[in-house]
Amino acid sequence: MRQLSKAVITAAGLGTRLLPSSKEIPKEMFPIFDLGKGGILCVKPVMHKIFENLYDVGFRDFCIIVGRGKRSIEDHFTPDQLFSNVISNRIRRKVRDEMLDFYAKIRSSKIFFINQPSQRGFGDAVLQAEAFVGNEYFLLHAGDDLVLSRDNSHLTRLFKVFDELGGEIVLLSERVKNPTQYGVISGEIIDREKGIVEVRDIVEKPSKPPSDMAVIGIYILSPKIFKALKEIKEDSRGEIQLTDGLKMVLEERGGVYAVLLRDGEKRLDVGNPENYYQALVESYKFCTKLIKEYSGRT
Ligand code: G1P
Repeated sequence: MRQLSKAVITAAGLGTRLLPSSKEIPKEMFPIFDLGKGGILCVKPVMHKIFENLYDVGFRDFCIIVGRGKRSIEDHFTPDQLFSNVISNRIRRKVRDEMLDFYAKIRSSKIFFINQPSQRGFGDAVLQAEAFVGNEYFLLHAGDDLVLSRDNSHLTRLFKVFDELGGEIVLLSERVKNPTQYGVISGEIIDREKGIVEVRDIVEKPSKPPSDMAVIGIYILSPKIFKALKEIKEDSRGEIQLTDGLKMVLEERGGVYAVLLRDGEKRLDVGNPENYYQALVESYKFCTKLIKEYSGRT
C-alpha cells in the first residue's frame, strides 16, 4: 500500500454566489441531510459530512484551510464541553449520540487550521498546506464539494487506482452536460468497466470544453504540486488555479488518472443557489432511502 495519511480540506473561498446567506455562515457550513445514528434523518454542515467520510475511510490527520470569516468552522470542530456535560442530557437521545460520535471522532484526530491570508484562489489555498503535508502524497478535498456514495465507494476506488496504477495525481470526475463551470479533463479511457481515464490534458472552466468529464474537488496529489503552484502564473483574475498546477505536473511527469463517478454515486456542489437546492433534494433522497432500508432491517 502506498502511504496516504494526510487530508487537506479547503474552506477559504468567499462564497459570493450564496450571498447574503454566506455573509456570516461559510458555505462549507451550510446544512445538508444525512443519515444519523440509530437511523434518524439529521441535518449537518457539508464540512462535517466531508470530515466524517474521510475519517470513516481511515484519515486521522487533517488540515483545514480557512480564511477571514470562517471562525464558525473552527468552533464546530472544537468539542463543546458545556454541550457534552449539560445540554446533551436534555435532547433526544439519537441526536445526542450523533453529536457525541462526532466529538469522539474529533478527539481521536489531529486537526490543524491554517489561514489563507488573502483570497488568491484555490491553488493558493492548497499551497498553504505545504508545511503540514511535507514530502508525502495527500488527499485534497474541496470543502464545498461532496460525493454521496454507499460505504464511500468513490474514495475507496480512488485509493485503489492510486495503489495499483501509481502515478502522481488521481482525481475524481463526473460526466456533466455543461462542464464550462469546472476543470475539464481529456484523455484515454483505459478501463471502461472501472471508469478509469489516463488524463492527457486538463483545463480550467473552458468556453469550449474538450470533453464532458468535469473535475470534482477530490484529489490524491503528489507533493510536487507545491513546486508547480509556486511556479505558475496568476490567471486574469489574479488567482492561482490548482488546475494550472495539475497541468504542470502532468506535463512534467505524466501519471495522472481520473476515476469517473458511477451510477448511484451522487455529486453535490454547494456553489450557487441552484446547486444548493439540488444538494438538499439529493441528500434528502439519498438518506431517506437508507433510512427505509435501515428500518426494514430493525
Ligand atoms: C474548483 C476547481 C475546478 C473544479 C471545481 C470542483 O473550481 O478549480 O477545476 O472542477 O473546483 O468543484 P471552483 O468551484 O473553485 O470554481
